[in-house]
Amino acid sequence: MSITRLTDRLINFLALGATIPAAKKPGAGQAYPVNMRIHLAAIFVFSWAIPCMAFAADGKTTFHKNVEPIVQARCQGCHRPGEAAPMPLLTYSDTRPWAKAIKQAVVTGKMPPWSADSSVGHFRNDRHLSAAEIDTLVKWADAGAPEGNTKDAPAPLQFTEGWAIGKPDAVLQMPIPYDVPAQGTVDYQWILIPAFKEDKWVQAFEVRPGNRSIVHHVAAFWRRAGSKWMADAQPGVPVAKPSTAPETGAADGIIAEYVPGIPPLVLPKGYAMLLPAGADIMLQVHYTPNGKATKDISGVGFVFATAPPEYQVITYGMGAFNLKIPPYEANYRAQATATFGTDVRVLGMNPHMHLRGKSAEISATYPDGRSEALLRVPKYDFNWQITYEPAGDLLLPAGTKVEAVSYYDNSVNNPFNPDPSKEVKWGDQTSDEMMAVFMHLAIPAGTDPRMLYRRPSYPPKPSAE
Ligand code: HEC
Repeated sequence: MSITRLTDRLINFLALGATIPAAKKPGAGQAYPVNMRIHLAAIFVFSWAIPCMAFAADGKTTFHKNVEPIVQARCQGCHRPGEAAPMPLLTYSDTRPWAKAIKQAVVTGKMPPWSADSSVGHFRNDRHLSAAEIDTLVKWADAGAPEGNTKDAPAPLQFTEGWAIGKPDAVLQMPIPYDVPAQGTVDYQWILIPAFKEDKWVQAFEVRPGNRSIVHHVAAFWRRAGSKWMADAQPGVPVAKPSTAPETGAADGIIAEYVPGIPPLVLPKGYAMLLPAGADIMLQVHYTPNGKATKDISGVGFVFATAPPEYQVITYGMGAFNLKIPPYEANYRAQATATFGTDVRVLGMNPHMHLRGKSAEISATYPDGRSEALLRVPKYDFNWQITYEPAGDLLLPAGTKVEAVSYYDNSVNNPFNPDPSKEVKWGDQTSDEMMAVFMHLAIPAGTDPRMLYRRPSYPPKPSAE
């Protein structure tokens, strides 16, 4: 099978913005993608380096006392049944057989998935392990993965079986169940769900699949009243190949998505997205048949802001559409810039490329001329579409120029490269490329969102004496 391809069709409409994480959970009966096997191979090649980094086994590091707290905090979010990872790491007997693989995965930085250079910026969703955590896991594996005393074990984590955002204030579901066939490949299905009659400020969204065994991913978009995008669609009646695109410039856009292992979007207090009166929800669902015909009703849960928000959150996109990567080029550079017409706070940044994506960097030049890097992803991994959420306040004053630079490797040395002899341009397929950056930006409530797209005359021109 091909590796996960997400809503690239939609990502084409960059001005809408989107944060679309890709996880790589094959449906039942499907093999893990070739590139994962390449990952594994890479780790074996790498393993010669590991002895140099190994620490002496101290005999005191045990699962229950030292390892279990780390695995709970850092791994179980994905390594439990129903989530993204192929095997659970909930108990000693789950984890014990993986001790060596865990050591390799954490020493090489493969696990947990996190690609940002930790010397640039601070991120509240940072997944990377501290040196002490890695040390503990390595010591444990080297000591033969001892269990230790169950009395030392932390209480098992309680996972929310229901909604991760808490009890939703409203749930909108597909009005008609979708009939998922037993076999074959199903095109992405678009399903219209009418939303609310009045403006709604939404603080948290959660997209929930009806049947996790056949829902690969769901992306929820909103469509403003009167939009021409899929204007003919009827509530609940699936559309496989929309002939029209979302409208740009803060008109239609993505709100949330379901991908195993990626938590739902919960905005901080005082921040909310506006779902305008009369808007529709457009669900894009990717079904992966698993041998048994079944039905699915997926939906979206909403938690509304309890007070009018201080900040409106917008998903903003920028990109370099004119990509033209020559055959065998190992270091192609693409760049996109944006200058905002209003003060913005950055809540999230997600650089998006495909299989030839190599590295990405986002930097800001402030109106006073100072520049700094906001995010550096030295080794881009298409399989993990991570939105990096700055910790603390990342405020860009009006007139700040944001510059995104991405590099691509179209050479034979890129193990993910499907065809180095091809010239590669912008396109939907993972064998095409994209250069996009999606940002969650907050602007003071009441500011016209179109100001984001307006280039300011800032810094002010010196007046003629
Ligand atoms: C965001 C989800 C996520 C988190 C967090 C995560 N894993 Fe994984 N892990 C996966 C997925 C998905 C796979 C299978 C695909 C792959 O190998 O990339 C995997 C595979 C693995 C493997 C298999 C071998 C390998 O390297 O492919 C090991 C070992 C592993 N994880 C260990 C860990 C440990 C230890 C932690 C915590 C310190 C952790 N993972 C955290 C998602 C996650």
